[in-house]
Amino acid sequence: MNEHLHDTPHYSFWWKEGVIYQIYPRSFMDSNADGIGDISGIIQKLDYLQDLGVVGIWLSPINKSPMYDFGYDVSDYRGIDPVFGTLKDFERLIDEAHARHIRIIMDLVMNHTSHLHPWFVESRSSRTNPKRDWYIWQGNKKGKYPNNWMAYFGGRAWEWDEKTGQYYLHSFLKEQPDVNWRNPELKKAMFNEVRFWLDKGIDGFRLDVVNFFIKDDQFRSNPFGIGKYPRPYDLQKHIYDRDRPELLELLSEWRALLDKYDARMMVGEVVAEKPNPALAAKYLGDGTNALHLAFDFSFMDTKWDAKLFENRLRAYHERIPEKGWPCTVFSNHDQVRSFTRYSTGDDGEKRARVIAMLLITMRGTPFIYYGEEIGMQNVRIPKSRIQDPVGKRYWPFNPGRDGERTPMQWDSTQFAGFSSVEPWLPIARNFREKNVEIQLREPSSLLNFYKDLIAFRKKSTAIRYGTLSFLNAGHDLLSYLRCAENESCCIILNFTRFPRTCTLNIDGVWNVALSTHRKIGEQFHPTEKLFPYEATIIKKEHQA
Ligand code: NOJ
Repeated sequence: MNEHLHDTPHYSFWWKEGVIYQIYPRSFMDSNADGIGDISGIIQKLDYLQDLGVVGIWLSPINKSPMYDFGYDVSDYRGIDPVFGTLKDFERLIDEAHARHIRIIMDLVMNHTSHLHPWFVESRSSRTNPKRDWYIWQGNKKGKYPNNWMAYFGGRAWEWDEKTGQYYLHSFLKEQPDVNWRNPELKKAMFNEVRFWLDKGIDGFRLDVVNFFIKDDQFRSNPFGIGKYPRPYDLQKHIYDRDRPELLELLSEWRALLDKYDARMMVGEVVAEKPNPALAAKYLGDGTNALHLAFDFSFMDTKWDAKLFENRLRAYHERIPEKGWPCTVFSNHDQVRSFTRYSTGDDGEKRARVIAMLLITMRGTPFIYYGEEIGMQNVRIPKSRIQDPVGKRYWPFNPGRDGERTPMQWDSTQFAGFSSVEPWLPIARNFREKNVEIQLREPSSLLNFYKDLIAFRKKSTAIRYGTLSFLNAGHDLLSYLRCAENESCCIILNFTRFPRTCTLNIDGVWNVALSTHRKIGEQFHPTEKLFPYEATIIKKEHQA
């Protein structure tokens, strides 16, 4: 199945080579007029993704699911949910993507299953069922919780089961019981599910909440602590219900499993209360024996400030092990879109370009969330149309995550070219001005800027594999050097709406390679007045 891929450069390390694009399948393209995106819809859009220049697609879950958490509650790891299509469709997607040199990364949700997964149905059927210990059962007195652990989506993490008189653990919804990774049978069964997909030719996995996999074996209560939000979950330091030391051992087994196959990878979602780059980097192990990539979510709540950005980037990159590899992410299906987070009035378009350049030129693998390349914004969802269980529970204090999951804006026709019927979530009001079709035609669009950046990255050894060092270019500027043997690139980003003088301590002749404001090829002087929100790459060829 991988025959098309062997001729690509750096075959085994494709995931270091280029950009990975996250698709939320319900919202990308609807091919069968039910208002919900599907696999055949994704296939229709592969040419678009190839043209954008991505090397891989990460699909949010498409496995069979009762959809209490829109696929993050799996009831059959080998099945494809009929709302998205069939296994045949998915195999066709793998083939069609591979034919375009695009890899497929599946989302594996293996901290928990759905409560309707046959394993859990068995586990809860009696205390003596052989699968009882595949999940986490504790306590025997209703009202007396085994400990103080809270669920991420609210309330206690323990749900009483009347029939068998015990509590089961659910770190998220009660319809998402946590499995017991300490049980060897469960682990074996999970690894068999992973093997099934590896044998099918899947190129990689995104491991959902990977740092939750193992819990304290003594079930100690978490100590008090102040986290991110003023909600009960964040009034605990989560030292016993996640990030247990045994996790690294388990990840080394995962790695060994993937290493038996050619050119596969896994990227882990590492959840932290506060920006915690050290935690994400930790799960790379020594770079060869744990995750291939680990998301650091520091930028999901970083204020727009050049110095702050630099500090957060430094903190992460300094901790990446020598043989490890970083990645960069600004948006996903759980976070307010970066365009919305960073825009203040009419600055959004300009800031989006600064972010685009930072994302694509930073050392490591960039992740684009669908629509980020056209500057999609969060949509305010009326209460009556809320779908996300988090929004249903906490509206209006927390509107949930639907706002960042709205349909892709393909064109200006009714329903934005996403579907021929009313979609499952409302479409952004501005879709007639902001969509793929318009931006493909407009040379100075954000989409074309992304395309240029990605194309530049493909050609540039310095951007793909060069070293990273930060420069002090001046107030409100973020600047860094990426150096390889044959060339050096210097990236200069002006974070403000004001012109700024940049003073770069670099010698030699530097020419503009790509810029929001300057002509390609133009010489760039180390002391130069920058335009407001200018984003520029300058390049120097090294003498042979
Ligand atoms: C993290 C996922 O990204 C999120 O969407 C989901 O709700 C939780 N994990 C639970 O699986």
